[in-house]
Amino acid sequence: MPDIIIAIDGHSSTGKSTLAKRLANALGYVFIDTGAMYRAVTLFAMQQGFLKNNVLDEKKLIAALPDLDLQFLFNPKKALSDMYLNRQNVSDEIRNLAVSQQVSRVATLAEVRKKLVSLQHEMGKQKRIVMDGRDIGTVVFPQAELKIFMTATPEIRAQRRFDEMKSTTPDITFEEVLENVKHRDLIDSTRKESPLRQAPDAVVIDNSNLTKDEQFESVLGMARALIG
Ligand code: DC
Repeated sequence: MPDIIIAIDGHSSTGKSTLAKRLANALGYVFIDTGAMYRAVTLFAMQQGFLKNNVLDEKKLIAALPDLDLQFLFNPKKALSDMYLNRQNVSDEIRNLAVSQQVSRVATLAEVRKKLVSLQHEMGKQKRIVMDGRDIGTVVFPQAELKIFMTATPEIRAQRRFDEMKSTTPDITFEEVLENVKHRDLIDSTRKESPLRQAPDAVVIDNSNLTKDEQFESVLGMARALIG
């Protein structure tokens, strides 16, 4: 049975992680959420005071990158890996709105990307991974055997994110979330370093009108066809 790498890229809030987790579970593969890594670097910049009042001190952040330790540690209770930043579990904190609003700009920095891509290469050495992100099929693993590119309309994506956030952030409005989704699309797809784009050999899934089960079954079928 050949071992493969599955790369799942696409716009934010298209359900990449949900699909990637289910696939990894079904195949006995490791799920790697690279967005969590960019979020952890953003939180690190905030904790260190390099990012405050909407101002990012790029030089200080870059100089401090050797002090940044990122690890995924498996949490058997969740059957998922938690994200550790310098030995602290930050899985919940990296999802807050402050991090979400700043992460795209941190992700534009070439030095940050270089460090994270090299960690990602390490994680994929033995293959058997489902990695989700923006540049997995184009930059991190251009040789991945299966590449999926996920998209949906900004309004549908904002509604999904809004529904998720309502319980933890009751003050948030749909308009704020929609604005954040559009803003991130713009930065992610126009940045100089590894912009979000579809690999020529990626399978595009627009899930505006697809159920989670439909898309899962379809991609699982593609993976099984390759694995045998
Ligand atoms: O998937 P997410 O929303 O958690 O990603 C957070 C941000 O990180 C997103 O704005 C784009 C960036 N990102 C990236 O540039 N490259 C990746 N491989 C993953 C995420």
